Amino acid sequence: MYYPDELIEEVRTRNDIVDVISDYVRLQKKGSSYFGLCPFHNEKSPSFSVSRQKQMYYCFGCGAGGNVFTFLMEYENFSFMEAVKFLADRAGIALPEAEYSKEAKQRADLKASILEINKIAARYYYVQLKSERGVGAHTYLTDRGLTEETITAFGLGYSTKYSDDLYQYLRGKGYSEDLIRQAGLINTDERQGVYDKFWNRVIFPIMDVNSRVIGFGGRVMGDGKPKYLNSPETAVFDKSRNLYGLNRARTSRKTYFLLCEGYMDVISLHQAGFTNAVASLGTALTSGHASLIKRYVQEVYLTYDSDDAGTRAALRAVPILKEAGISAKVIRMDPYKDPDEFIKNLGAQEFENRIQNARNGFMFSLEILEREFDMASPEGKTAFFREAANRLLSFEDELERNNYIEAVASAYKVSKESLEKLVAKTAVSTGLARPVTRPKKADGAVLQKEDGIVTSQKVLLTWMIENENLYSKISSYISPDDFTGELNRRVAKLLYEQHEKGELNPAKLLNHFTSEEEHREAASLFHTKIRQLKTKEEQDQALKDTILKVKAHSINERTLNLDPSDMAGLQHLMEEKRKLEELRQLHISID
Ligand code: UTP
Ligand code: MN
Repeated sequence: MYYPDELIEEVRTRNDIVDVISDYVRLQKKGSSYFGLCPFHNEKSPSFSVSRQKQMYYCFGCGAGGNVFTFLMEYENFSFMEAVKFLADRAGIALPEAEYSKEAKQRADLKASILEINKIAARYYYVQLKSERGVGAHTYLTDRGLTEETITAFGLGYSTKYSDDLYQYLRGKGYSEDLIRQAGLINTDERQGVYDKFWNRVIFPIMDVNSRVIGFGGRVMGDGKPKYLNSPETAVFDKSRNLYGLNRARTSRKTYFLLCEGYMDVISLHQAGFTNAVASLGTALTSGHASLIKRYVQEVYLTYDSDDAGTRAALRAVPILKEAGISAKVIRMDPYKDPDEFIKNLGAQEFENRIQNARNGFMFSLEILEREFDMASPEGKTAFFREAANRLLSFEDELERNNYIEAVASAYKVSKESLEKLVAKTAVSTGLARPVTRPKKADGAVLQKEDGIVTSQKVLLTWMIENENLYSKISSYISPDDFTGELNRRVAKLLYEQHEKGELNPAKLLNHFTSEEEHREAASLFHTKIRQLKTKEEQDQALKDTILKVKAHSINERTLNLDPSDMAGLQHLMEEKRKLEELRQLHISID
């Protein structure tokens, strides 16, 4: 943190959230809140709300939410500090210059320089493709069915056969070797010295949403290995947060994206009129990709390769998308390998038909799940339904969940009522509601693992943030030290402090989280609802179970870490354990 807390809080309070957001979104007053169309996902009726009183915003559709800083971080892609600076300017508050760390400034300069070099390199590759030297590469692309218009639209290029062509060109423009290296455009080895990363390859510039060149992919023209070379991660290139083709797909005006695996798939689809195609470039889909997608659409059609690897990738993608609030459908490409080959052989109309007949991602995943169970035996079938019920629980919206329960019941020929009961039972025994997560972590898998206990802790925090009454209930059993997740514990400490002072202020609390990742994660805590549980009994039970779970976990952790000679600590833990047992007998009511 580079500025004092009070200064940041002053910047926040001097920028009314309704005024700031009004510069981006048309808001209309309804009751005590303002409503508009959510800028973070595509929608036709307004579910984006801004509260002047709380100085927070929240979208009921996609779960985006936070304070005025969060909004600018999400909308403008600002860092926390950039958002602070922007709003300080807006309110005419002078920020002390010197407090900008030297590193932060250097990093901003580095990013700008790399973007500049990338742009020049892309233009250079493009000119080579169109020149005499690029005839072979150009023929390769047109042989693959690309038109001149498509080649230009995607800025395709060619890196020549000379091993340091681009390097010399950029040096001639005055860029240092160090900078060119940091842009990922050259390698060095003892024998050859400095040489270009890409040579004799067709070049696919990779652009971010704002059409800035952030990296490159290069394909051999023929069967050489590796087939594609890609830029390494650099200060501006993060594979898990960018999608190839997004800069064009975002303006396609379709309500869904076609998500595929490769450069050529995206390009072929765009050329065939499917301008809503994007690709996750050889890496598995991450939650970072999902939240990026979520800013534009709420539905994705997966058009992965039709081999085993493609099927597995699709299966992994479905829950990651759903976690971000995106529904997924799966399009099969058989008998062809991928969308590019499919279109080439069967044409756009047939592809359109496949879109119409896409299978629902959830039902697709159940079909694949079946393979793991012996569906002919009663035990196998029961186990399958248990897992299905578990998965059905992940639909937070009741109506949606019921629709799926109905669909599964009818597809697997069981009664809707018994499946409903199984789902309700599973809800109570596995611990209820989950917070609205807008995961930004690079790796979806890690995020899912931490689920259980960390999720329960998040649920408690959310309840306490939303409801004074629940705070006094929960805080009589749970203290900030019972939170084991680092971020959760910090939020808990701040929240308890605010409550003790009688000044609950979630918007202010968020100021303490200045890295983008933390800020988003903290912001996501503010909007969980106990949605999945219908009756008051179920909700009471959920509250009690969650408290018990968090407390028991905390006691266990501390027992494991206890120094055996610490008698006082041991006594304290015994006391806590006894209280926990008492608590098990109590009835706790949610209101
Ligand atoms: P594919 O092997 O499916 O290639 O890899 P493709 O897209 O169909 O390519 P063409 O049609 O043969 O030209 C899918 C994606 O995986 C990444 C690339 O992003 C590619 O588009 N990939 C693949 C690599 O990064 N390196 C490789 O060596 C291969
Ligand atoms: Mn292909």
